Amino acid sequence: MDHAQLDRDHLWHPFTQQLGWVEEEPLMIERAEGAQLIDSEGRRYIDGVSSLWCNVHGHRHAGIDAAVREQLDRVAHSTMLGLSHPCAAELAAKLIELAPPGLSRVFYSESGSTATEIALKMAFQFQQQRGGQHARRTSFVHLREAYHGDTIGSVSVGGIDLFHSTYRPLLFQTHAAEPGDAANLERVLSCHEEQIAALIVEPLVQGAAGMLVHPPGYLRAARELCDRFDVLMICDEVATGFGRTGTMLACEQEGVAPDLLCLAKGLTGGYLPLAATLASERIYEGFLGTPAEQRTFFHGHTYTGNPLACAAALANLEAFEQERTLERLQAKIELLGRELNAVAAMTEVTEVRQCGFMVGIDLGEHEPALRLGHRVTLEARRRGAIVRPLGDVVVLMPPLSISESELRRLVEITAESIQAACASAYPPVAQAA
Ligand SMILES: Cc1ncc(COP(=O)(O)O)c(C=O)c1O
Repeated sequence: MDHAQLDRDHLWHPFTQQLGWVEEEPLMIERAEGAQLIDSEGRRYIDGVSSLWCNVHGHRHAGIDAAVREQLDRVAHSTMLGLSHPCAAELAAKLIELAPPGLSRVFYSESGSTATEIALKMAFQFQQQRGGQHARRTSFVHLREAYHGDTIGSVSVGGIDLFHSTYRPLLFQTHAAEPGDAANLERVLSCHEEQIAALIVEPLVQGAAGMLVHPPGYLRAARELCDRFDVLMICDEVATGFGRTGTMLACEQEGVAPDLLCLAKGLTGGYLPLAATLASERIYEGFLGTPAEQRTFFHGHTYTGNPLACAAALANLEAFEQERTLERLQAKIELLGRELNAVAAMTEVTEVRQCGFMVGIDLGEHEPALRLGHRVTLEARRRGAIVRPLGDVVVLMPPLSISESELRRLVEITAESIQAACASAYPPVAQAA
């Protein structure tokens, strides 16, 4: 069967201009092993972006594979609406254990977008239910260049024009603060005092903005400002969670406990769609009441808390412990930093930004039509690595389990690919005879 042709004939890919897509040969991934993806021709590629920032312990991890299979022998899916199941309950307890203090309730969904959408709705409804002047807190503060997902609520608190501006007429009102600038956040909060339900922030690093790293102390300052202005704090750890910044959660590094915490991507080790929105007991209690009081949180998807996904998540957390993943990661973060020094020195590179295992290699401003970032992707593919850019920022975010030799090779391939891509985008002008 010609799968490439079936793809061109029938598929519509996410974040993809299909006109360009159908002109290229699609890469069909059929199998995977550890930090490597294997295509239909048997060629291997280092998974340089953890299959969109979610794989943690590698592909076909024995423990996670077994947990999913065992759960499959029990039940693949049952609903969380009116019923519960052991994996969901056990996982909730484990997530509360690893979360910052004060977070005590877990609400499941399936993606990062839904985790943030839910946090926004919870924050809004909580303020409404507080009543009095708090009911006027109907707006949100987000950071410029923020990305919290693709549903209309999460797009409303998004700050990336290329992705979000088309939808402006559909979006609710929000206020943007400058990334990493506490004084600016203070100004925005004080200008809109008593109208803000919550601040939503990606802690330490704004991933989709091109790995924009905040200055140390910013998150702590944001927490203090939220307390001062009586605004809830939502930390979106969809990208930063599960070890990506070097600690289990990024919030830990600044000793910050948000009121609402969003988790997804690495929650199942990159196996199955599962997300969680964690809430403080204060928020949870704000939703308690008799049916007549109408304080119920009317939200819940069909596959919320899917048992297979919860089983994968439990096995993922177990692997963190058994394999001492975070402990072993520290040396790899340092190695990655050392290897990137040479990349930062390249003339083609404007800046390299790194926070743990999250890396953005900025190639500077280029004509969009040159598609420089995309050229790097194609060159890397030829050399045996999968990387995916954000515009002209080449992102590296490998699985935490990647070996040191694979990590070195990944950076080497990336550097060669940047050189080759720039050479093809800017061919030397022919010398006059
Ligand atoms: C910080 C952050 N929040 C939310 C999302 C959306 O997650 P999903 O693609 O699972 O909806 C992403 C995805 O990249 C993200 O980086």
